[in-house]
Amino acid sequence: MEIIELPNPFDAPVYYEEIVDSTMDSSRSLAAKGAPHGTVILADFQQKGRGRQGRPWVTEKGQNLMFTVLLRYTDINAFPKALSLRSGLAAALAIEEFIPAMAGSVLVKWPNDIMLGKIAKAKKAAGILVESDGANVFIGMGVNLLQNDFPKDLYEKAVSLFSFFNENFPEFECPMLLAKNEAPLMLLEKILANLHCELAVPKTPPLNSWNQRLLSRLYKLGHPVIFAEGASDSQKIWKGHLDGIGEDGELIVTPDGKSKPMRFINGELRVY
Ligand code: BTN
Repeated sequence: MEIIELPNPFDAPVYYEEIVDSTMDSSRSLAAKGAPHGTVILADFQQKGRGRQGRPWVTEKGQNLMFTVLLRYTDINAFPKALSLRSGLAAALAIEEFIPAMAGSVLVKWPNDIMLGKIAKAKKAAGILVESDGANVFIGMGVNLLQNDFPKDLYEKAVSLFSFFNENFPEFECPMLLAKNEAPLMLLEKILANLHCELAVPKTPPLNSWNQRLLSRLYKLGHPVIFAEGASDSQKIWKGHLDGIGEDGELIVTPDGKSKPMRFINGELRVY
């Protein structure tokens, strides 16, 4: 594991390792050794990358951005509200800064996937996994950056920034993405800057300005949705209309046939 020179607004080291099992596990090891708040571990390839709800996260070597940020709080009550969603928002804002032509096409799918494209056809470009062991939080992000091909089962659902740009702006070249060796670190720097801002808890109102930034990028806001409530092995399916996000990051959906919205904290929106 080596330390790389990259501006980190958390004022903590950024580690790189070519191949790891999962940056989530590497981050846990760093935490156990006393690594400070904001320590980052970045890898080129993960042998056992993991996603939410027990799914694997498999990507081609050297094509994408994969990292975990360690956040240390005094206890669980000190976690910023809606930490997971705000991390997704930070990633979306960073992608928009990285490739300004994509602004308007970057959506946050609750709780924290990043989708690219128009709502009906949007495909997943990044996934975020938030784990905690009490006072430590591990924010893992996987951004599909340069990968062109995806396995058959993901072909309809996944996209990289590079292939999205090429499909949608065929007449332009994207200098950020052409600098293939530098692209992952350039994007990481922007994500860290945005994450640092988005996780700062304002001491004075407006307390929930993150909520406004998120709503304008929220996947399926105001649209019919299918929501699978709960963990993957015991899901209850709701059909309804997506109304928004609450102050604590909960998803607000009015189920079909009901007059009052419901608030969900655990589950996933289905893409269909
Ligand atoms: C999801 O969409 O289900 C979340 C995917 C999270 C993937 C990232 S890649 C870096 C970090 N290490 C992992 O093993 N997972 C996260």
